This record gives sequence, structure tokens and C-alpha cells, in this order.
Amino acid sequence: MKTFLKILKWIGIILGVLILVLVIAVYSLYPPKFDAPKVEITASKDSAVIAHGKYLVYGPAHCAECHIKVNRKDLSVLETAMQTQPLSGGLEFTMPGAVVYSGNLTPDKENGTGRYTDSELARLIKYCTKPDNTLLFPFMAYSGMTEQDVTAIVSYLRTLEPVKNTAPPHELSFMMKGFVVFLFKEPFLLETNAPKSVARDTTAEYGKYLANKVSGCEFCHTNADMMTGKMIGKPYAGGQQTPPATEEQGVWVYSPNLTPDPETGRIYGWTEEMFIQRFRQGRMVKESIMPWECFKTYSDNDLKAVYKYLQTLEPVKNEVKEVVVREK
Ligand code: HEC
Ligand code: HEC
Repeated sequence: MKTFLKILKWIGIILGVLILVLVIAVYSLYPPKFDAPKVEITASKDSAVIAHGKYLVYGPAHCAECHIKVNRKDLSVLETAMQTQPLSGGLEFTMPGAVVYSGNLTPDKENGTGRYTDSELARLIKYCTKPDNTLLFPFMAYSGMTEQDVTAIVSYLRTLEPVKNTAPPHELSFMMKGFVVFLFKEPFLLETNAPKSVARDTTAEYGKYLANKVSGCEFCHTNADMMTGKMIGKPYAGGQQTPPATEEQGVWVYSPNLTPDPETGRIYGWTEEMFIQRFRQGRMVKESIMPWECFKTYSDNDLKAVYKYLQTLEPVKNEVKEVVVREK
């Protein structure tokens, strides 16, 4: 009996020490730091460069979808908001154990992009890494973007009126901090060998760049591990499960299969015109997390390139029966 109690006592002590070590580890490692590559750029005053940056922000790169404060439960207001409201962030994202607010993209000196040099801002966009190397909460994945496109975006952001972001600080539970510290030690979907520039034409090659590195089509349309966000499915075969844009409980959204599979490919048989037309229509599924309001403004030429690229994918049989599922 005595030895048993002794063993119990020791197990208790060891467990207590382990928990203490874990707590100290999480608090000392949060927020995670990462030594991201430097990005040396200078914002341009060239109107064509600025116009391209604006196109990316409100279109293919869909920054506007997350950096304008609207009611996410009713995204039908976003389209008008995109024309009238500043990119000053503060949009609220609620997850189990966390409430996170998007950052301020206007050049405000207090909490906006006015705090960063052009190169620091480019590095922050590409690698989600602040000048002191702290990583942002994993929401963005633009490390595959060319320096040319990041420069265009920074050039456009420099032309905005400064507006203050009035969002409160993020709220993260201890569990969520632990999750971030141990699972997101580097930028999400990190890529360090992106080309400096790409030719903007209507080839499948350019479509691949737009789809995979700028718009995030590949990520959303590939099955991913819900915990780590790592892509685990066949590329573009769909089936990734996510909470809905409306943030309702008990509702799940599944991305469709975009590979050219005759039986299960969602866009199999769609002509280029139909594909472009679908983008012009915008959001049709209220709960969809696809940033349709931005993608609506994708240019015809860029959509042609994306369409061409999707046709080159390996057909994968993967039936995604319903895109919105409500738990009974
Ligand atoms: C899916 C939503 C989403 C998209 C799309 C998105 N962002 Fe963000 N962004 C966020 C969130 C959320 C934060 C806050 C992260 C944090 O503070 O840890 C953020 C933070 C930032 C910051 C840091 C602000 C600061 O000073 O801390 C910059 C800069 C930024 N985003 C730029 C962009 C640009 C440029 C694009 C488009 C190329 C973009 N974002 C697209 C959600 C998004
Ligand atoms: C944030 C995740 C996300 C991103 C990014 C995304 N999609 Fe989707 N996509 C979805 C989901 C979820 C659906 C199903 C709901 C819907 O139709 O809106 C969908 C549906 C579609 C559909 C079928 C529409 C229909 O009417 O059946 C097409 C085509 C499509 N996406 C193409 C693309 C392309 C091309 C890109 C990149 C330019 C892209 N998606 C980026 C999540 C995403």
C-alpha cells in the first residue's frame, strides 16, 4: 500500500512538472517567430503597376474579401462594401478558441501599413512575417507570389487614404496558442523559390500560377487535414471540409472536384464561356467560403488561363455529393 501511494505521488509530481513545462513552453514560444527571407522592393508610382496591384487586391488575390469590415453572416453586402469601404481591416473571424481580426492595409501610421517600409510590407504579405520576425495568425498563403505582383500590391496600398483600424486585439485561448505554436512554426504553405516575375498571358502556365499561388484555388479544392491545414488529397479533387462563411454551427461546406473527371468533375463539359460566365454570376451558395465577390472581377484573359490549366489536371474520381451539409 505504501509503495503504491509513493508511486502515485511520483506520477503526480511528474505530471505536474510536465504540464508546467508545457505551459511555460507555450507562453514563451507564443507568438511563433520565423526567419523569413528578406524581400527587397520599392513601391512604384507607375499607374499601370498600381492598377495591376488594385486588380489583384480586389480580384484574384482577394485581399478585399478579408480586409474590409462587413457582416460575414451576410456576405451579400460585401460587393457594395468593396466599392465604398476602406481596406482598414477589423473583420472578425471566430473559431473555437480564437477571435482574430484582419489587419489594416491602409497606410495609417499607428496600426496600418504606414508602420512598414516597402520591403517590410512585401515580406509581411509574402511570408506573414513582421519586421521582428513574429508570424501572423495563419490566414494567408502568398509565399509563391512573384516579387513583381507583391510590388504591384504594395504600390497600390501606398496610394490609399490612411484610416484607423478600430478592432480590439485578438483573443486566443491557451489551447489555441499551443496549437499555433506547435503546428504553425512557419508560414502556411511556405514556398521560398517563387520566380521574380511571370508572363501575363493566357497560357495554362500562367493559369497555374494564378490558381495555385495567387487565388488559392488549389488549396481549397484539395482535401486537407482539418488540424494542420496540410493538403492530403489528390490536387483539385475537392472534398475539403470547412466551416461555412456564415460561421453557423453544425454546418459544413465541401469544395467540389475541379479535375476533368467525366463522372465526378464539377466542371467537366463546361466550355470556357460557361466557366467565365459562372465567375461573372458571383456567389450562389450563401455559406460558400469561396471569395466569389472578388473573383467576379477576374479578367476574361486570366480566367481563360485558369480554365486552360484546370483542363491539364489529372482526372480524379472523387464524388462530392453536396457542397453544404447541415448536421441533423
Ligand atoms: C482569408 C482572409 C485573408 C485574406 C484573403 C487576406 N488576408 Fe491579410 N490578414 C488576414 C488576417 C486575419 C490578418 C491578421 C493576422 C494577425 O494579425 O495575426 C491579416 C493580416 C494582414 C497583414 C498584417 C497587418 C499588420 O500590420 O499586422 C497584412 C499586411 C495583410 N494581411 C495583407 C494582405 C494582403 C495584401 C492580402 C492579399 C494579397 C491579404 N492580406 C489577404 C486575413 C486575410
Ligand atoms: C476559400 C476556399 C476556396 C477558394 C480560394 C476557391 N474555391 Fe472554388 N469553391 C469553394 C467551395 C466551398 C465551393 C462550393 C460552393 C460554391 O459553389 O460556392 C466552390 C465552388 C467552385 C466551383 C463550382 C461552382 C458551381 O456553380 O458549381 C468552381 C468552378 C470553382 N469553385 C472554381 C474555383 C477556382 C477556379 C478558384 C480559384 C480562382 C477557386 N474556386 C477558389 C471553395 C474555394
